[in-house]
Amino acid sequence: MNILILGSGGREHAFAWKISQSPHCDELYVAPGNAGTAQVATNLPISFNDFEAVAKAIVDLKIKLVIVGPEEPLVNGIVDFLKARPELSRVKIVGPDRLGAQLEGSKDFSKNFMFKYGIPTAASRTFTPDTLEDGLAHLTSHALPIVLKADGLAAGKGVIIAETLNAAKTAMNEILVEEKFGAAGNKVVVEQFLRGIELSVFVLTDGINYKILPEAKDYKRIGEKDTGLNTGGMGAVSPVVFADENFLRKVEQKIVKPTLAGLQAEGIHYVGFIFIGLMNVKSEPYVIEYNARMGDPETEVVLPRIQSDLVTLLLAAADQKLTESDFVISSQTAVTTVIVSGGYPNAYEKGKKIADIEKIDEVVVFHAGTTTNDKGEILTNGGRVLALTGIANSLEGAVNKSQKAAAAVQFEGKYYRKDIGLDLIRYKD
Ligand code: AMP
Ligand code: GLY
Repeated sequence: MNILILGSGGREHAFAWKISQSPHCDELYVAPGNAGTAQVATNLPISFNDFEAVAKAIVDLKIKLVIVGPEEPLVNGIVDFLKARPELSRVKIVGPDRLGAQLEGSKDFSKNFMFKYGIPTAASRTFTPDTLEDGLAHLTSHALPIVLKADGLAAGKGVIIAETLNAAKTAMNEILVEEKFGAAGNKVVVEQFLRGIELSVFVLTDGINYKILPEAKDYKRIGEKDTGLNTGGMGAVSPVVFADENFLRKVEQKIVKPTLAGLQAEGIHYVGFIFIGLMNVKSEPYVIEYNARMGDPETEVVLPRIQSDLVTLLLAAADQKLTESDFVISSQTAVTTVIVSGGYPNAYEKGKKIADIEKIDEVVVFHAGTTTNDKGEILTNGGRVLALTGIANSLEGAVNKSQKAAAAVQFEGKYYRKDIGLDLIRYKD
């Protein structure tokens, strides 16, 4: 069958890489894609926010399966839009509808959902411009640090961890009054700070049944030892050594099952991935956030560990037959190091020629912000440029492969973290 992936990051290249290996995949398209997806699929010059153009491509190219990578079109209702088209009634779509995507699109929605269904999460209260005075008063009696979250999508920048009361008040004013995050800040969630170690668990669901995918740990900060600004993610590791069987069983019983039962009780037919950001607090899991999609760069370590055919799994999810598909996970470790443009996550330059990509072996090279010029050269085209995934029998082996490749690839201004996975090696020891 012909398959379409929407998106242009390392996550979408990882999907394209895995799907292109499937015997069920005939023509594979990515919209808009990058220089890496062009190696395994055909890129379409269409924005995933242009729903009309996506619908037309599905018809013209006889697409039977669509995978929506990023959150923005999901939260904006691309699935509802496509499902409402009679000519697309037989197209299978992996991704939740607008209501389901609210798990990510509204922190207030997701907090209320978790409280209603008894899912462990930090205590919180929500305030609006109308209840600003109550909000400021609430802050004065809140333990420090205080976590403040803009309600809507804010490109990963909407969470403020305030160490002082003054910083918390400033943040609340910035969100609710100065509208620093635009409409995403019509509400602010004020939340208890959780102390622990973070990791993420990924679920693929058909609305009723589910498969729990390999867990991963992401490295969000730009600087080594988790310092500096937040980024989309500078690296990832799977599996996560401190997520033992006992912990993962708790995640399934206390979080995954009630989440799916809650969605059903709310009348939300959720088909797609749920990315559960967790804090491990003294061996107890708490949900920090839900995302309505896979993570990036987590996908670049999760998919390489799935040995089963991904197209079979995605079709089973769309057809509500997930229990029938086999699901085999490799016991190997995958580590990805993300190479970024100098300056990221602040301003950075694009269009730098990437040298020596073809010389890199021993890793899977996933492209993120890359493009090709008319001479066929690969150029940087974004903040995050490449994700280099090493796979080995040991964590150390996978780290070494990924880091060796990261050192080898060259472009002007290149930067990467040299400590991806090292905390987990220490944890293990
Ligand atoms: P989010 O955008 O929801 O992923 O939040 C960004 C980051 O803020 C998370 O990855 C955590 O590191 C941190 N964070 C969010 N909520 C909390 C919390 N309640 N306690 C501690 N850290 C948090
Ligand atoms: N790496 C974090 C995310 O995809 O949201």
